[in-house]
Amino acid sequence: MQEPDLSIEISSLKMESPLMLASGILGTSIDLLRRVFEAGAGAVVTKSVGYEQRTGYNNPTIVEVYGGYLNAIGLSNPGIKEFHKELSRSKIDDLPLVVSLFGADPLEFREMISLLDELEVKAYELNISCPHVKGFGAEVCQDSKLVGEIIEAVKTETQKPVFVKLSPNVTDIVHTAKLAEDTGADALTVANTFRAMAIDIETGRPILANKIGGLSGPAIKPIAVRCVYEIYQNVDIPIIGCGGVVDWEDAIEFFLAGATAIQIGTGIAYEGLSVFEKIKQGVKDYLIVKGKRSVREIVGLAHGFR
Ligand SMILES: Cc1cc2nc3c(=O)[nH]c(=O)nc-3n(C[C@H](O)[C@H](O)[C@H](O)COP(=O)(O)O)c2cc1C
Repeated sequence: MQEPDLSIEISSLKMESPLMLASGILGTSIDLLRRVFEAGAGAVVTKSVGYEQRTGYNNPTIVEVYGGYLNAIGLSNPGIKEFHKELSRSKIDDLPLVVSLFGADPLEFREMISLLDELEVKAYELNISCPHVKGFGAEVCQDSKLVGEIIEAVKTETQKPVFVKLSPNVTDIVHTAKLAEDTGADALTVANTFRAMAIDIETGRPILANKIGGLSGPAIKPIAVRCVYEIYQNVDIPIIGCGGVVDWEDAIEFFLAGATAIQIGTGIAYEGLSVFEKIKQGVKDYLIVKGKRSVREIVGLAHGFR
């Protein structure tokens, strides 16, 4: 049998593999992001960049917990002007580069995109879902009117694909997903980390300097799969599944739930960059056993059972 085809398209972004690097895991350095691409990622997402430079929170900003990591980095980033310089001096035309942006209001998003749009950025991911930074993130995601205004503003500024990364820390994620679709999102990334915390029982203190952070890794996978499944039943735009993918079985679950592509974050901390080739091989073997020619054939197959 011929090798199964793993290529996919999300709007105008063509990927040889449906496995992407999740935002925030390996920073904004183009050299490093290129290494991830060369290690087998179909596309790479930068750490979220904001309008102003931010140093982020004090340490500890990350702690390993059962089933994953808890982090509250605080959206540390070089700011859009510095990042623009980094992009301008790097060769990115052949890199499937998705820039993740966060901002407080539509104007900040528009200004950032107007600065970057002349460069060979292939798509944007709007981080309206960071669970632990006041004024950005989940606070934005919980404000439906603001979410809609941000997406509409961004869409008037660029012809490139706009992915909207949703927060699971809302009462009804399907509501936000529909709103994002209605206001022009080209795809949805589902989802960001889950608000969580850990306490040192000796000292009685919360471990993270910010006290509350976001949980990632295998512990959140079943919740993220449920989010993808429910959203798939209610929207038509592609879904990028994210949350706890460490092995090929995890990726398959997301495809069956309705994801067209998968992002991997914590899986890199567990497995290193070889995680991309390992999962790719596992997905190919699964497709061969199931008699499928392309990964596209299994997207959403978990639906339709009574
Ligand atoms: C250390 C760390 C930093 C992160 N930074 C960002 C970020 O800057 N922007 C963003 O949208 N998501 C960020 N995330 C969330 C991840 O992109 C991803 O949504 C989440 O970790 C779930 O996927 P995973 O279980 O594969 O890690 C971060 C996650 C971690 C662990």
